Amino acid sequence: MRTGPDAAAFTEQDVSAFFDQTMATYLNFWDSEGVLHTGIFDGEQDEDYRAAAARTSDLIAREAGIAAGAHVLDVGCGCGNFLFRLAAETAITGAGLDLSVERIKFARARLGELDLPEGSDITFWHGSATAMPFGDGVFSHVVSQDALFLVPDKPRSHREVFRVLRPGGTFAFSDFLQPRPDISARARRHVYDRVRWSSGYSLLDYQVALASAGFDVVLARSLDGQISQTYRVLGKTARSRASETGDPAARDWMLEFARSCGEIQAAIGDGEFGWGIFVARKPALRDSEAR
Ligand SMILES: C[S@@+](CC[C@H](N)C(=O)[O-])C[C@H]1O[C@@H](n2cnc3c(N)ncnc32)[C@H](O)[C@@H]1O
Repeated sequence: MRTGPDAAAFTEQDVSAFFDQTMATYLNFWDSEGVLHTGIFDGEQDEDYRAAAARTSDLIAREAGIAAGAHVLDVGCGCGNFLFRLAAETAITGAGLDLSVERIKFARARLGELDLPEGSDITFWHGSATAMPFGDGVFSHVVSQDALFLVPDKPRSHREVFRVLRPGGTFAFSDFLQPRPDISARARRHVYDRVRWSSGYSLLDYQVALASAGFDVVLARSLDGQISQTYRVLGKTARSRASETGDPAARDWMLEFARSCGEIQAAIGDGEFGWGIFVARKPALRDSEAR
């Protein structure tokens, strides 16, 4: 992992406090159902964040090969939207795990309101990727969207994902990248410290880390342009919502976020912030081990 001399060492408590405290504000301008990840846009003119975010989920589901009967864990599930989308389209069972108790409460409340198709069954759990409340080899697939970068002890969360996957199971996810070790004070403030992110992997380092945890890496693709468009679109939304709200604290937060969006795009251009999609497999048992 690329720590660098000025990296702050945020704890899991710092991360959970941030996602608990900012939930209402994010619902206000980012997405009212709590979707909170990078979108895949259909060209530079496309400003439909919700459709772009759904495209990312669909790409991960497709690359993971999730089909009816899959038992899926979403790590850092936030408000549960990836599982809701999967369950609505395919009869899956699964679990969502998140460090933010507020987001898990929101996911459980929405689950109670949704009419999921026959055969789908989902539960939500409050907890950490570093100490998962699940048995060994339980899930056929583990997915995650823009969450694992926030884990301070990443080798530990990789070991946990490996443990809860069945042999032959698939780990498919998107995540933020730290492409280089030296990060400017500006990028540290607007990209990293803003969301309590201590440090991350480059695209190459990520593959090495997954292999060290025992995975066979099937896909590692960098898609940096999509984060740039995501923050361009959301910065614009934040600025326009700020002018509509009567709450001065919410207005200041959204204007500060909109300012950060410009800095975030600069950091991507300077190679200080990246985004990638990964697929990795837990090796299947050999015949002699299976017996
Ligand atoms: C950017 S949000 C993404 C949420 C969701 N995946 C989505 O796409 O809408 C990151 C999420 O990761 C969660 N998270 C951060 N560290 C975690 C950890 N150690 N274990 C579980 N969840 C964690 C946060 O609470 C937050 O909900």
